[in-house]
Amino acid sequence: MGRGMTTVLTGIKPTGYPHVGNYVGAIRPALRRAGRASGSYFFVADYHALNQIQDAALLRELSRAVAATWLACGLDTERSCFYRQSDVPEIPELTVILNAVTPKGWMNRAHAYKAAVAANAERGLDPDDDVNMGLYGYPVLMAADILACRADVVPVGRDQVQHVEIARDIAERLNRQTGREVLALPRHEIPADAAAIPGVDGRKMSKSYDNTIPLFADARAWTRAVAGIRTDSSPRDAPKTPEGTAVYEIFAGLATAGEAAGLHADLSAGRAGWGDAKARLVSVLERELTGPGERFAELMASPATVDEVLAAGAERVRPVARAVLDGVREAVGLARASAPRAAV
Ligand code: TRP
Repeated sequence: MGRGMTTVLTGIKPTGYPHVGNYVGAIRPALRRAGRASGSYFFVADYHALNQIQDAALLRELSRAVAATWLACGLDTERSCFYRQSDVPEIPELTVILNAVTPKGWMNRAHAYKAAVAANAERGLDPDDDVNMGLYGYPVLMAADILACRADVVPVGRDQVQHVEIARDIAERLNRQTGREVLALPRHEIPADAAAIPGVDGRKMSKSYDNTIPLFADARAWTRAVAGIRTDSSPRDAPKTPEGTAVYEIFAGLATAGEAAGLHADLSAGRAGWGDAKARLVSVLERELTGPGERFAELMASPATVDEVLAAGAERVRPVARAVLDGVREAVGLARASAPRAAV
């Protein structure tokens, strides 16, 4: 299939406020990828988040904030279908059917579940401690997300590659079992422009390390966050190695290639110190993210707008998912879904 004829799909788990690392590593590359596709689906994976978040107000808040973030960063709802997973009942319905063809052993080997078991072992806890069935069956729901839309390409980070492979394996298995091509086979794609950037302490930028730079802030807050980036104590005129330093890598993630080359040359030649590099980083944060931050604030002040956008997206995706589900129901021998009859 040609590049322009692909349907891409990305799910976004609303478990935290997006930070600069999410923007550079996931949001911006996914939006660019969608721009080169013939169709695209983006959704807030709130059922997936529910496995982790038991606080209703928090889940609602994060779902809205994540949706507002993607809209503020330029998600084009004319060209892309943008919805909440839980507004599409065909997805959980497909999950039930996929569960019946998915070997349990595949779930035992899935990374997210294995990581939870390993963390329990490390702390001397029961392997099943705090592991719910949602986490265990996570890849099946994710497969339903992907297969319900007949997505070809799923842009993901490395940690999600195995989950997309499982979705493909499930689809192949159901097709083989029924002798029909009822499901399209998806493939993962790690966007070439998705950089994993360091956080202020030099480790990968991650909410769980508490080393993030906020995506939407003002000059003062960004200056404060950037001031906290760890550097060595080389003087301004010492030749420095920019590669691998948090300040340079974060800058390179946000700036143009020319600007990154300029900072690289200046640090290497001892024409710029770490303080200068930090000042350039604050300016590029302001330039790239002030506009999106204003749109984000507007959307957060108007939850009804966000809800309407998502509801309209669900209206558009449901017929697609319904058609896939009807085909699957028929192929496995379930009765065709009938509209509920009014009580007499
Ligand atoms: N599991 C993904 C994550 O944690 C989120 C997700 C849910 C997803 N369903 C998906 C991603 C379908 C791609 C396709 O980031």
